[in-house]
Amino acid sequence: MKILALSDEECPALWDYYTPGRLDDYNLILACGDLKSSYLSFVVTMAHCPVLYVPGNHDGHYENNPPLGCDPIDDHFVVYNGVRILGLGGCYRYRPGPHQYTNAQMRRRIRKLRLQLWLNKGVDIVVTHAAPAGLGDAEDTAHWGFQALRDLLDKYHPQYLVHGHVHMNYGHEIPREIEYNGTKIINAYERYVFEIPDREYSLTDHGQVIYKTRYRPGYLEEYSTQGGW
Ligand SMILES: [Fe+2]
Repeated sequence: MKILALSDEECPALWDYYTPGRLDDYNLILACGDLKSSYLSFVVTMAHCPVLYVPGNHDGHYENNPPLGCDPIDDHFVVYNGVRILGLGGCYRYRPGPHQYTNAQMRRRIRKLRLQLWLNKGVDIVVTHAAPAGLGDAEDTAHWGFQALRDLLDKYHPQYLVHGHVHMNYGHEIPREIEYNGTKIINAYERYVFEIPDREYSLTDHGQVIYKTRYRPGYLEEYSTQGGW
């Protein structure tokens, strides 16, 4: 499965200077946050595969103006063509506003997904906006990584964790990929392509984004807008 990951900055080659066919090769697109709704709607219209997305810290507008045609996976466990995917958007709380969490709040979000992690015998790809602590994060509070995400890697060893938030142009030392105990951590700033071996799955599930968690609009409010700092 060939996967295109997008984050933080709209890629000119996939929008302003898009030429037909440029998205034909991808089997799945993952959006890691801080992207315009209109950009993701354009990408999903041109592509022949789903776009799964989590919000970044600048995506409060998704609530009233979500990326049309795309599938929200924040706080959800989904399976697509046999690949198990978990979405955990937002970043470390550094100011009032939506899609920001303390480490304890991130830990609680993960705890709520434990049943699905167990029922599905783990996870293949974790899609986040922020990085795990010490694995591609940065030193200022806004770009701190979550220890809760690092603990998730230690416990479930997903094949990939794909994140954004730490722009590659913040500094030369920012790595695109990090290997950590069997997990490849990818910074998807602007765009990045990777492949995951095909999985076995039922033909009736082909091309379907199957939600293992219930979709409950408004349920994230409890984390994202309350509790102050
Ligand atoms: Fe961000």
